[in-house]
Amino acid sequence: MIVIKLGGSVISNKKVPYSLNKELIGKIGNSLREYAGELVVVHGGGSFGHPKVKEIIESGHTLADKGFEVIRVMNLMTNLVVEALGQPFAPYSTPSLWDGRLNVRPLALAAKAGWVPVVQGNVVPPGRVLSGDEIVVELVKELGAERAGVATDVDGVYETWPPKGGPLKEASPCDVEAKGSEGIDVTGGMRKKLEVLEEAARYAEVCIFNGLKVVNFEKFLKGECPGTRVVPCRQG
Ligand SMILES: Nc1ncnc2c1ncn2[C@@H]1O[C@H](COP(=O)(O)OP(=O)(O)OP(=O)(O)O)[C@@H](O)[C@H]1O
Ligand SMILES: [Mg+2]
Repeated sequence: MIVIKLGGSVISNKKVPYSLNKELIGKIGNSLREYAGELVVVHGGGSFGHPKVKEIIESGHTLADKGFEVIRVMNLMTNLVVEALGQPFAPYSTPSLWDGRLNVRPLALAAKAGWVPVVQGNVVPPGRVLSGDEIVVELVKELGAERAGVATDVDGVYETWPPKGGPLKEASPCDVEAKGSEGIDVTGGMRKKLEVLEEAARYAEVCIFNGLKVVNFEKFLKGECPGTRVVPCRQG
């Protein structure tokens, strides 16, 4: 089983609310479709979820009272994403699988049937943001996935930001000073991504790569890490 996260920064332009890179998503669908094994996909909030959460908070409301609005835009986004991905991708709603934790069994069933279920970073009751990266951790642990490919809009994790030189081959949150995101973002960008994915890296191979370059999906599915491999912090 492989988990793929399509960063919101890949499938949309996080500087332009409610934008979607349909052509690129179509190409990504073509390369993921070639993979013969079981696949589960999660996508990030990108230009849909992040600005909606920001709008709710800035208008003086909370996610406890207006979280359903985020669920509505994410539902819309996932439907557009699966349309662009094509067959056999199918939309699954994260809040529908949530009972205090993510019930991944329906996703395992779908993957076993040869479909590719697609879930999304979202808001879950009673008003908590569950990021796409956090879902990757759940999927790795609960589905026993061997590998997770986390596509984002940079070539990997850089030692410093703005970057000097190339991306790191390996990175852990303990030795990289990553920062947030340059677009509209409520889940902490690269810094939080590393912190969250560190847990997944204890169970599976986790690779952060540039999803704007479609060839990287093919490389990842062949077993390579065309970016930065996330490694757990050293103990002690
Ligand atoms: N050290 C770093 N190395 C790489 N990127 C960094 C670093 N520090 C900060 N960043 C920023 O992190 C961004 C990627 O995180 P971001 O959360 O925006 O993308 P995403 O997780 O793919 O999108 P989404 O949260 O919508 O799924 C990069 O575009 C870059 O601006
Ligand atoms: Mg993010």
